[in-house]
Amino acid sequence: MEPTVLLTPEQIDFYHREGYLSVPALTTTEEVARLRAIYDDLFRRRVGREEGNQFDLGGTDEENKEPVLPQILGPSRYAPALNDTLLRVNALAIATQLLGPTTKFSGDHAILKPAKIGAATPWHQDEAYWGEDVDHEAISIWIPLQPATMLNGCMQFIPRSQLLEVQPHHTIGHDPRVHGLEMDQLPDLAQAVACPLPAGGATIHHARTMHYTGPNKSDVPRRAYILTYSTEARQRATPRNHYWNRTKDTPREQRARQARQAAAKAAGVAAPPTT
Ligand code: NI
Repeated sequence: MEPTVLLTPEQIDFYHREGYLSVPALTTTEEVARLRAIYDDLFRRRVGREEGNQFDLGGTDEENKEPVLPQILGPSRYAPALNDTLLRVNALAIATQLLGPTTKFSGDHAILKPAKIGAATPWHQDEAYWGEDVDHEAISIWIPLQPATMLNGCMQFIPRSQLLEVQPHHTIGHDPRVHGLEMDQLPDLAQAVACPLPAGGATIHHARTMHYTGPNKSDVPRRAYILTYSTEARQRATPRNHYWNRTKDTPREQRARQARQAAAKAAGVAAPPTT
């Protein structure tokens, strides 16, 4: 498949200057409908829950509690059809325009804001979640699978904040059981730019661009599918200190640990007897 969308020189300049960009259409309406059906099915079946890959990004993630911000890490692992789309062809082409020829797909995730109860994703920089000892240039391409509005939680950015270092963060509400992070200090909200989008449009942001999405106050779910792209990681001479990630003790990590132990045990049992 050949890409059907490319960025203009003006859009590329805008992205590098402002740290974000809004694109009205990254795929067809037919493909959006197909993606939406896959997306809803993955959340309905709670795929990845036992491995810690599906969890409540914004809440304490107890088993019997309705999630306010359900997230799936790596949904394409559970639905390989997500890898074979025009969306992916166009996203890679655009990412390569922005990051250069060494650009690689580095993963996908899905963040659902349920109707009425979907919580805000507080102001943060994505790089705050990541490793302390490597540098890489990375972007996220954020695609709503229905229109994204101020009412249901469209993206908002602080222009040019990608030029700053990673700011101090903490887990949402200072609760160590919550996976999501928020910045210790709110940015100047007068600078914030909201980016409403049609279904199948996209915003693109740098891993250090400060961003936020509001709560979903609408009657329909707000589905965001996110693709990340990155250049080769380089080892940092001086590691950073993202101490906020070490204060976490989340049910998601506990489930992931149990799943790894169970897999190791199963592999041990299944191993053929040595002679
Ligand atoms: Ni983010």
